[in-house]
Amino acid sequence: METALANEYRRLCDDSAIHQPLAYLRLRRAIRNVIEHRDIEPGQTLPSERDLSRVLNLSRVTIRKAIAGLVEEGLLTQRHGAGTFVAERIVKPMSRLTSFTEDLRARGLHPRSEFSERGIGEVTPEESMALNLSPGSLVVRLHRVRYAEDEPLAIERSVVPASVLPDPMLVHDSLYEALEKFGCRPRRALQRLRAVSLGAQQARLLHVATGSAGLNIERRGFLDDGRVVEFTSSWYRGDIYDFVAELQTD
Ligand code: GLP
Repeated sequence: METALANEYRRLCDDSAIHQPLAYLRLRRAIRNVIEHRDIEPGQTLPSERDLSRVLNLSRVTIRKAIAGLVEEGLLTQRHGAGTFVAERIVKPMSRLTSFTEDLRARGLHPRSEFSERGIGEVTPEESMALNLSPGSLVVRLHRVRYAEDEPLAIERSVVPASVLPDPMLVHDSLYEALEKFGCRPRRALQRLRAVSLGAQQARLLHVATGSAGLNIERRGFLDDGRVVEFTSSWYRGDIYDFVAELQTD
């Protein structure tokens, strides 16, 4: 791991296409890359500050600063007296509007989806309220089980106005990638979180026992002009996901 990280750090230093003069940001990127490439596995310990400082020829302050940012992002965790580890649970910062695909890739995991519905139809009264659409408008509906490798993590039901995404078949792995192509990726979102116990069907799809703890998140995603481009209800497994929010006083 030490060698992989040192090689990656040096590669970033030598790559003239990467204009990153700040050593701690370069190191942060190098650590993120070795996690993504699985040179270090979830649960494994990062070399100590002292060792990293020696191998990379960087000050301990720089190393500490690089690591602190990754702890905040949830990629690394620290246990007092035991060191710094690659996070095993999926820790999702609440303040950034990212997609499921991006969250998983950033942790070196391979996201995939299985669709149980991918169609187009007339908006229901509930959907028309959530998306600010008039009755009779067409919407694209995507029902997916979302996996990391072969492990199911969440069930998601997304509804998108057909005026934004004309064909459900345009969505392959990522809804946000498809919306991005039309310049309609949400720029802002409102989310509502509720603790739930997973029903029999949900539990079966998520490979957990009926009644297990889950988290239901409803997201409404908006464009800059105020249009609502997605209404998604997701059921996350409570045993795998941590959602972390940063709070600040004014
Ligand atoms: C998260 C959000 C959803 C959003 C999805 C997009 O899971 N909870 O509201 O639709 O990301 O992810 P992707 O682009 O991977 O389909």
